[in-house]
Amino acid sequence: MTTNLLASELKLPCGALIKNRIGKSAMSENMGTKDYKSNSFLNTLYKRWANGGSGLLITGNIMIDHTALGEPNNVVFEKDSIDTNLKEWAKAGTQNNTHLWAQINHPGKQSPNFLSKEPVSPSAIGYGSPLNKMFNKPRALTEKEIYNIIESFAYAAKVSKDNGFTGVQIHGAHGYLVSQFLSPLHNQRTDQWGGTIENRMRFVSQIYKAIRKEVGNQFPVSIKLNSADFQKGGFTQEESMAVVQHLSEQGMDLIEISGGTYEAQAMTGRPKEIKESTRKREAYFLEYCEDVRKVVKTPLMLTGGFRSLKSMNDALNSGACDMIGLARSIALDPEFPNKLLKGDNNVESKVKPLSTGLKFLDNIIPLEIVWYTEQLKMMSKGENPKPNRSPLKSAVNTILEIGVQSMKKVRA
Ligand SMILES: Cc1cc2nc3c(=O)[nH]c(=O)nc-3n(C[C@H](O)[C@H](O)[C@H](O)COP(=O)(O)O)c2cc1C
Repeated sequence: MTTNLLASELKLPCGALIKNRIGKSAMSENMGTKDYKSNSFLNTLYKRWANGGSGLLITGNIMIDHTALGEPNNVVFEKDSIDTNLKEWAKAGTQNNTHLWAQINHPGKQSPNFLSKEPVSPSAIGYGSPLNKMFNKPRALTEKEIYNIIESFAYAAKVSKDNGFTGVQIHGAHGYLVSQFLSPLHNQRTDQWGGTIENRMRFVSQIYKAIRKEVGNQFPVSIKLNSADFQKGGFTQEESMAVVQHLSEQGMDLIEISGGTYEAQAMTGRPKEIKESTRKREAYFLEYCEDVRKVVKTPLMLTGGFRSLKSMNDALNSGACDMIGLARSIALDPEFPNKLLKGDNNVESKVKPLSTGLKFLDNIIPLEIVWYTEQLKMMSKGENPKPNRSPLKSAVNTILEIGVQSMKKVRA
């Protein structure tokens, strides 16, 4: 019998200890209050997960500015906002010696048109079809605004630390603002923030430095980064590798590897982006992670596609990564980490391909997101997830919800 490496602890460069190698990857809960605060629903959900066995829980993306939201019910950490529940949320998520890290994010132009009339981005480049129906054309950020956003990331990290979260993660993946800066398709600036990869990574590098200055050297700081954007002319694996090397040298504690954007949804293993043979092997970004391992010593968390204990232990055993990131499996079964930690190779993830049965609906609704968000909502009310819930029902609910949101006043 091979050792269950999943159950071994991990020491990060900052000195923090994670009790095992399972990290719950970020899943946007979309359940904050109307004024962007956390609440008892989040406390219930994270208490459940903290008792589920993961060594690390990363929150769903928390925004750093309420005028730039990725979803209507995001929680926001920003100046002049007091969230009296935050300490309770942190307490719930750190039970059972669990790390709880806040994932902090700015959506840039990936802010839906019913939330942002004119979103911001490195350059004033809108999306092509069909995303242009969902997101308005952005305007280019001024330098002053860029510096303000860097400071806002640092402030959000301070809020996290002050309230009992045990680390932070910069969302640098999936086409949000940091990822927009890194992409030559979306960042066509001609100043110090655009052009060469050194210039395009200046934004994330400065965010990291500003956060580190705020939280000190003993507090875990992480980033979720794309292996690539899976788009012609977009952020490539070579460029991603350069960013990984740079951030490692700066002292990043953990780099989580993912991939894709809303335009090319590799992160959830969509067949268009991820080959069937890769999905069968699980771990969509394993090969890239193996390449990264050859050039950096920074702890790596690999996320996307892991379903079986064997694949997880194989990846850890090979040395390709140091932590296994799990999202959807833990949304459907909060006890999944505890089961894996017992070392039973027959434990199965409940994740299955989703379809409404109607091709046109499958194409227009981000089903993976909406169906799983409903599972999180059930857990936040103290109920169990329902793996047999109808995807069609979720799609219809979403259409109704978007209709209501669109009818409400559009925020600037
Ligand atoms: C409902 C849902 C919400 C998500 N929200 C986020 C998020 O806020 N931040 C993030 O980095 N990734 C987010 N993701 C992506 C996951 O963290 C993860 O990368 C992806 O689901 C692949 O991992 P899995 O195969 O274990 O599910 C989300 C995924 C789902 C299904």
